[in-house]
Amino acid sequence: MKVAILYYSKTGHTLEAAKAIAQGIKEQKSEVDLINVNNLEISILKIYDAYIVGSPCWAGSLSKNGVASPIRKAFKKIPGNLFKSKLCGAYSIFAATGGENTVKTLNQLLKSKGCSDVIEGPIAKAGTPFSITKGSSIQKDDLELFKNFGKTFVQ
Ligand SMILES: Cc1cc2nc3c(=O)[nH]c(=O)nc-3n(C[C@H](O)[C@H](O)[C@H](O)COP(=O)(O)O)c2cc1C
Repeated sequence: MKVAILYYSKTGHTLEAAKAIAQGIKEQKSEVDLINVNNLEISILKIYDAYIVGSPCWAGSLSKNGVASPIRKAFKKIPGNLFKSKLCGAYSIFAATGGENTVKTLNQLLKSKGCSDVIEGPIAKAGTPFSITKGSSIQKDDLELFKNFGKTFVQ
């Protein structure tokens, strides 16, 4: 299976989780590419069998929405049926509250692009509110959760 992890990361935590997921995927002998949505070329997306989207929680506690704006912008460019019949997953990193709202919104965004099979992956705490500084890192146990998510996602 060939997996694309589409992520945005301002201070590096969502990227760190993406790397842990990728490690799990590779351990199952599947292929994986990490794609920063700011560098996303829509035409390349069709080569993948499965997609995982990772977003830091942005205003997840206030609006119950919580997806970072670069991810939203990327979804606006993705054709309506691109994820049809594909396996999809979502995860989020948050500093205080709202990460579960981010994952739920990512689930809806993936469904809006045709995916009927979205796996809601882990959320973990890291960083600081509004990412004013990089703040604390993802805990080791949480990195393990992301790695295991990658493993089971491709099984
Ligand atoms: C505009 C903005 C809004 C944010 N809103 C929230 C929030 O509602 N709840 C929360 O727990 N963290 C919030 N954060 C903090 C980030 O989710 C957190 O620092 C995360 O670790 C950043 O991930 P990154 O390093 O991949 O960018 C916000 C950060 C920014 C920049």
